[in-house]
Amino acid sequence: MARSRGIPIPGFASILSDPSDGTATVIQGRDAFPEDEQPTISETNTVHLAWDVMVGLGTLLFLLSAWFGIVWLFRRDLPKPKLFLRIAAISGILSVIAMEAGWVVTEVGRQPWIVFGEMKVEDAATANTGVWMTFLVILGVYAVVGVTTVLVLRGMARRWRENEALAEHQVPYGPREPVDSGTEKEPVG
Ligand code: HEM
Repeated sequence: MARSRGIPIPGFASILSDPSDGTATVIQGRDAFPEDEQPTISETNTVHLAWDVMVGLGTLLFLLSAWFGIVWLFRRDLPKPKLFLRIAAISGILSVIAMEAGWVVTEVGRQPWIVFGEMKVEDAATANTGVWMTFLVILGVYAVVGVTTVLVLRGMARRWRENEALAEHQVPYGPREPVDSGTEKEPVG
C-alpha cells in the first residue's frame, strides 16, 4: 500500500470527530470495505483535492475577514495594502469555487452510493439514452439567459455612463457620498 506523505498529528482526527475521547477515531482506508462498495482511486483523490480546495479557501477567506476586522477595530478603516484589496476583489469568485469544491466533496465522497448503504448510483441512474437531448436543450436555454443577462447589464451600464447630466452618486448603486460635490450635476427631467 502506498505510504501517506501527510504530516502525522496524533489524535487530531479524534478531537475533531469525537471530542469525548481523544483516541477513539480510527480512520479506515478503502480496503476496509468490500470491493464492490469501494470508491475508485480517482474518486478518492478527487474528494481529497476538493476537500483541500474547500478548506484552503475557507481558511484564506477567514484570515482575510480577520485582517479586515482587526484593522477596522483599531483604525476604523479598510486595510490599504494591495494584497488585501486584490484578494478582497476576487473573494467572491473564491467563495463560489469553495462552494463547488464542497459540493464535490459530498457528491463524490458518497460514491458508489446514491443513498449510503441502501442504493448504488448505478441502480438509480436512468437507463434512458434520450437524456442527452434534454440536457442540451437546458444547456442552450441557460446559455441564452446568461448571455442576455450580461448584454442587458452592459447596456444599462453604458447608458448610465453616456448620460453625462447625472453625477456618479445619482445612479443606481453609485457611491453614497458625492465624489466631488463641486462638480455635482442636477439630474435631468
Ligand atoms: C475551514 C473551512 C471548511 C470546513 C472545515 C468545511 C467542512 C465541510 C464538511 C465537513 C462538509 C461535509 C462533507 C460531507 O458531506 O461529508 C462540507 C460540505 C460543504 N462545504 Fe465546506 N467546509 C469549509 C469551508 C467551506 C466554504 C468556505 C464553503 C463555501 C463558500 C463551503 C461549502 C461547502 C458545501 C457547498 C458543501 C456541501 C454541502 C452539501 O452538499 O451537503 N465549505 N464542508
